[in-house]
Amino acid sequence: MNKTLHPAPDDLVHRHAQPGRTLLAVLHAIQDETGFVPPDAVIPLAKALNLSRAEVHGVISYYHHFRTSPPAAVTVQLCRAEACRSMGSEALAGHIEAHTGCRFAQAHAHGDETGHAHGTEGTQGTALALESLYCLGQCALSPAMTINGTLHAKVTPQKFDALLDAAVTAAGKTKEAA
Ligand code: FES
Repeated sequence: MNKTLHPAPDDLVHRHAQPGRTLLAVLHAIQDETGFVPPDAVIPLAKALNLSRAEVHGVISYYHHFRTSPPAAVTVQLCRAEACRSMGSEALAGHIEAHTGCRFAQAHAHGDETGHAHGTEGTQGTALALESLYCLGQCALSPAMTINGTLHAKVTPQKFDALLDAAVTAAGKTKEAA
């Protein structure tokens, strides 16, 4: 996945909107490639899939998984659902906010409570995003989170600090190599 150089929306759509593919499949493919779904891709997507612009926009905005702007260099997604709450995810969220100087994003208007984070300059000058999720399927290993898509279980504040340091270092290396 190349999150630094973004292909033109028309090229993205041409590449991924193959016959027989659903809108959701195409959106996933685009986001897998670029890290987000460019707003400029809505019109070519609608044309390619014979849908209205409103239909494409509605799907993108309904599923909180889809982003319409580039992701932060480091994205932390913390599970805030019941099992993780019972194992200290809220205290962990407080630690994460205090440690990074960033805040978890607010809920989406349509009520999914996820809220994509806003890119925030956090630890060591790296753009950091904090997001809440509601169950990662790791309830027996809670509290659970992902950092840049990698799942981590039984996360303690100390473990989080080490994981974040590693992610920030890795993000710096990726940036240097780009
Ligand atoms: S409740 Fe957190 S992983 Fe299921």
